Formats: sequence, structure tokens, C-alpha cells
Amino acid sequence: MSLIGKAVRSVEREATRSLRSISTSVARKSDALFVHRDTEYNNSSIPFKFTAENEPIINQILARYPPQYKKGAIMPLLDLAQRQNKGWTSISCMNEVAKMVEVPPMRVYEVATFYTMFNREPVGDHLVQVCTTTPCMLNGAYEIMDTIEKDLGVEAGHTTSDKKFTLLEVECLGACSNAPMVQINDHYYEDLTKSTTLDILKQLKQGKQPKIGPQSTRHTCENSAGLTNLTEKPYGPGQHCQPEFQ
Ligand code: FES
Repeated sequence: MSLIGKAVRSVEREATRSLRSISTSVARKSDALFVHRDTEYNNSSIPFKFTAENEPIINQILARYPPQYKKGAIMPLLDLAQRQNKGWTSISCMNEVAKMVEVPPMRVYEVATFYTMFNREPVGDHLVQVCTTTPCMLNGAYEIMDTIEKDLGVEAGHTTSDKKFTLLEVECLGACSNAPMVQINDHYYEDLTKSTTLDILKQLKQGKQPKIGPQSTRHTCENSAGLTNLTEKPYGPGQHCQPEFQ
């Protein structure tokens, strides 16, 4: 092969290598499509209306905003629609909210596709979100994820065949001082170990409500090593003040 031929091959090899490194980036398991595709279970011909029980809540939400800023109610109304719609926000839910706050439907789609708390695909009865961001990861989040995947028999991003559990891998949920943790529906379960995680799943399968919050002995996020400050009796009113103020 000529010198020029060799040079061309080497450039081609380099190009292939860089292509490969891009295409092998880690699979993302917690994202849904940003675009909507009509499906049998999610298309605008499927009607959605708020129930009569939700009417007073809707009125309460709308009353928080001046009439010309009704669109401020998009998020709380979408949340309410999602709760009514078994935990996910269909295109018909979004259209109904858009009608209610008098904005083009696209304004509502923009909100629902931006915020990950709006699930645009059906989810199981228990939406299990495992945080794997740095503090949780350093405290064993992947062990917790493996434990859940094995116990439920599904990988992150999937729902069990009985539609009871949906498992997601998510970014920081703001409970880093109680890492590792998971969010299941509206509740946080923190300071997890393999065995406490299995215990939570077992109770949920039995239809019981597991203890919410830290699964360790500590209260909320207090220091597990005990108090290190504010250990003395606080002084009373007037103490250390000028005599005229005592
Ligand atoms: S890193 Fe997991 S809650 Fe913040």
C-alpha cells in the first residue's frame, strides 16, 4: 500500500473509533420520548374529564391566580389530572388542562415534557424511582438498584407484567443526607440497605404501607454520630444582657 493509501486508512480508522465512542455512550433509562406519538391507549380521541370530586380542588387552584394569569395553574392542574389518570399524563389530560386555562395545547405539552414528574406513559401502581446521583451512588445506590431489579424481575425503565411496579433510575431527589434513597409514589424511603429495600417491596406487594422516611434508627436527617453542637442548655431570656434590659 502506498504511503498516501496508508494515511487514508489511518484517518478512516480514527474516524471509526470516534464514531464508536459516541455510539457506545451509556443507555439512558429514565427518559421518555419528548414527542408524542399516537397509540391505541394515548390519543386525543380518548376523552378525559375531571371528576366531580376534583371540581372543588380545581376551583381552589384557579382562585390562586388572577384571571389573566390562569396559565400559572398549568402545573397543579396537570398534577391533579395525572393523579386522576392512574399516575400518568395522557395527551387528553394535557388538552383538557389547556382548555381550562385557555392556552394553546402546545403551552401545556411544553410543561409536561420538561418536568420529569409528569409521566407521559402509563406506570404501575407503585412508581419506584431510584436515585443514582453521586451521594446515593457512593452509598450503594447501584446495589439498591440491582436488588430491586432482581426482586421485581424488571430492568430500570420497565413495568412488571402485573402492572404493580414501574422502576426508574433518576437524578438527585434532594435527600442526599439520607443516601441511598428511593421515592415510591409520593413517599421517600431513605438510609436504605439491601434488606430494608426488600422489606419495603415485600410490604407493598402485600398491600401494606411501609414506614416512610429513614429506614435506619435515626430521626429524619439528624447526624448519625449524635449531636456535635448545641449540646449545652440554651441560656434564658435576659441572660448576658445589659442590666437595663434584664
Ligand atoms: S444524590 Fe440521591 S437524593 Fe441527592
